[in-house]
Amino acid sequence: MNTHLETKALFAGYNPADNHGAVKPPMHPASTFVFPSAAVGAAHMETSYGVEGAETPPEGGFIYSRLGNPTLSVAETRLAAWDESDAAAFFARGMAAISTMLFALTGPDKPLWYVGPLYGGTQHIVDDILPSMGVSVKSMEHLDDLASVTEADGLPGMIYLETPANPTLQVHSIKTAADWAKRNSSKDHRIIVAVDNTFLGPIIQRPLELGADLNVYSATKYIGGHSDLIAGAVSGEALAMAKVFEYRTFFGGMADPYTSWMLSRSMETLQVRVDRQISSARLILDHIQEAPGTPVFGINKIYSAWAEDLEGSGDVRSAEIAKEQQANGGAMFAMELPGGRPAAFAFLDALNHIQLAVSLGSTESLAEHPASMTHAGVSVEEKLKHGITEGLVRISIGLEHPEDLIADIDQALQAACKVYEETLECV
Ligand SMILES: Cc1ncc(COP(=O)(O)O)c(C=O)c1O
Repeated sequence: MNTHLETKALFAGYNPADNHGAVKPPMHPASTFVFPSAAVGAAHMETSYGVEGAETPPEGGFIYSRLGNPTLSVAETRLAAWDESDAAAFFARGMAAISTMLFALTGPDKPLWYVGPLYGGTQHIVDDILPSMGVSVKSMEHLDDLASVTEADGLPGMIYLETPANPTLQVHSIKTAADWAKRNSSKDHRIIVAVDNTFLGPIIQRPLELGADLNVYSATKYIGGHSDLIAGAVSGEALAMAKVFEYRTFFGGMADPYTSWMLSRSMETLQVRVDRQISSARLILDHIQEAPGTPVFGINKIYSAWAEDLEGSGDVRSAEIAKEQQANGGAMFAMELPGGRPAAFAFLDALNHIQLAVSLGSTESLAEHPASMTHAGVSVEEKLKHGITEGLVRISIGLEHPEDLIADIDQALQAACKVYEETLECV
């Protein structure tokens, strides 16, 4: 019988026999590691710097914690096990992971093509930093645009997407990007497909199985999962990962040993956390919709990445994509309330159990106002293009009892309703 992923990932990267039988991995804060001999030390360093003819010491081992660390290694082996990838790299932040990956794999001869919306930090790198380094950047409205690319457009070095996208859960077809990249890659010009998989984590959506080369994560979210660490990750195919590791060594953005230790621990409960978050989110989505796609309580519109909700709202194409690439729609959703910012703020201020804070994917449920918080730096036109109105609130479902969350949302909707009750019956 094949061992299930969650069983494999629980033990990946650590053997108790290496540490006096201790059932859990220790934390190694050491900055540097003693070489058994000068010859072994020299061989390690030469291998690490890619010196021609260097021989890798067969006994393995570590050199210096910017190049590698045993606690970081355990966490990376675990993420590679979850993703079933060739290798995984943890970083100090999601933005360190994204920037290092972009710098490693794009360049003046390797343009970046992306489909928006993107996380604000990524958008800034793409709009302002990559072009200043000579990387040409092209924004696509839809991945279907790839079908009409001509020779005059040239070829990208990377296609980058985020799905579902923040905050209105727009879905993009990973397979469309991956198939096109495979068809247009050659021996001399490889097109990498990188997917920011932060919203659905390694469990619900598995871009590598759909042909993507790299998964990118803000591990601050579901992978860390407790709002008590900041980290990022890239995970995927060996050759692309070699470049990512090379750039990480020199940019120095790896996760520190304490964060790595916390990440290893968090990944042991990833499946149970996500399972509970998903089932609660579904109950709540059912409660705030009479039927998928038909909001109640006077809510204007509900944004969800669940196929049934997308189908209910008439977005058949997105529903098909969601069915093809997601096990379900995850534990994030957004609601647009009539009454604009005053109604959205009344809702957020009335919440008791759900915490008013940015971020997502944690044990506690979180709610925020994208237009003035996570997307405050985005232009009004861009906000409206992506449905980020003043009445929009985004919610990330945690591990509280779902009945308590439903009661909390109901009473906050009542508070919001006071803002618009003259024009609408909202109960
Ligand atoms: C989708 C997405 N990608 C990347 C990031 C950046 O991650 P971090 O805040 O860990 O640097 C975030 C942060 O919110 C995000 O939501």
